[in-house]
Amino acid sequence: MSQEYISRTPRSRELFERAKQVYPGGVTYIIRNLPPYPFYVDHARGSRLYDVDGNEYTDYWVGHGALILGHCYPPIVRAIQEQAEAGAHMGYSHPWEVEHARQIVKMVPGVDIVRLTNSGTEANVFAARLARAYTGRDRIAKFEGGWHGSYDALHTGVSWPLEQPDSAGITPGAQQDTLVLPFNDLETAQRRLRDATVAAVVVEPVQGGAGCIPASTEFLSGLRQVCDETGALLIFDEVITGFRLAPGGGQELYGVTPDITVMGKIVGGGSLPAGAVGGRLQVMGLMDPERYPKKQERVFHGGTYAGNPLATRAGAVALRELDERREEIYPYLNRLGERARRGLVAAFEEGGVKAYITGVGSLIGVHFTQEYPTDIRTASRTRNRELTAGLFSYLLERGIVFIGPGSIHLMLSVAHTEEDIDRLVAECRGFAQSVKSGGAG
Ligand SMILES: Cc1ncc(COP(=O)(O)O)c(C=O)c1O
Repeated sequence: MSQEYISRTPRSRELFERAKQVYPGGVTYIIRNLPPYPFYVDHARGSRLYDVDGNEYTDYWVGHGALILGHCYPPIVRAIQEQAEAGAHMGYSHPWEVEHARQIVKMVPGVDIVRLTNSGTEANVFAARLARAYTGRDRIAKFEGGWHGSYDALHTGVSWPLEQPDSAGITPGAQQDTLVLPFNDLETAQRRLRDATVAAVVVEPVQGGAGCIPASTEFLSGLRQVCDETGALLIFDEVITGFRLAPGGGQELYGVTPDITVMGKIVGGGSLPAGAVGGRLQVMGLMDPERYPKKQERVFHGGTYAGNPLATRAGAVALRELDERREEIYPYLNRLGERARRGLVAAFEEGGVKAYITGVGSLIGVHFTQEYPTDIRTASRTRNRELTAGLFSYLLERGIVFIGPGSIHLMLSVAHTEEDIDRLVAECRGFAQSVKSGGAG
């Protein structure tokens, strides 16, 4: 990290020293560990972050992709303020939980009925449980590079090198029923799924953590087919793609409907912890105490903050906005994404640095690899880690941020402008030129 970053972030540096005394590694989430120390955000507006030292950043991380309407979107801020006054936590049913769920059901094609959680991880826990109860089978198939949160059963085969565990402390027993398959390789997936008798196949329509790598349409429709053939349920993890790729998420864009949809991030308006699991009536009905009065036949779901008024009100307001302004918002986001991808291809080409750009709509991945990445293997095998971290530092110094130095994926919000994208592209061109001349990376 440059001397310049260090000299203009003294308060962040001080905070990090204090944070290290109270958090392992000084951070609340390992991906927030930006060496030598993270900048600490004081406040945020639209597409911008402002750190405690008064520096401004254009934000392409947008709250892990949750803030599709940008930071502090006024109607959401108002909704949260009003709800905080009315009661931030009821512990009983309240009108906003109904409004929120009705909006989700209206927008997402595969969701007839839904339950709310506090995170995407939690929603995946209940999706797996539903699938197991519905099919009477134990095994769950997932894909290499697929990130579904830190649920033990699905926290495997996520990052490179794939054969090493993704975390210490997970028992082999917790993953013995997990089948990890190659992403975007339909033939292998179909062959192995025909032999395996799984309860469910869980897949991200666009793998986010792997670097914004889209599934092919044939892959998703082939998975739909093999699930129908084998009696397995198809689960789309739309924690990133939901309400982002289209009002109805990846399933609307690809035209493939899953049996269960896992949601997070945008579903709670972006600012508050939220998740959701929804799907076909028959499957979700397993949570209905009237239909299944016996606990051993019913799928348990709940939680102290499940369906809490703050997140449901913020979520309802955000989703309504996305729904009502769909003709304006989605074409705008897609246009910005296209402009960024086209611009970045040209910038690295002109700069003479080999890079591949992936993504769909408002999701963008940059890969310094020797081949076009279609899965985590091709994205990781030949990745130039020095260039990857180098681009992060270069842009950070110039007031542009994305997830972090380990991988380059960027997410857009309606608060971003064409000027923001053009500046991003211009800085990436500058980076490529400085690499060529031996000054960066
Ligand atoms: C596709 C996907 N699924 C699940 C999760 C986990 O969600 P959460 O961090 O809310 O637990 C994430 C988080 O980034 C994600 O990208």
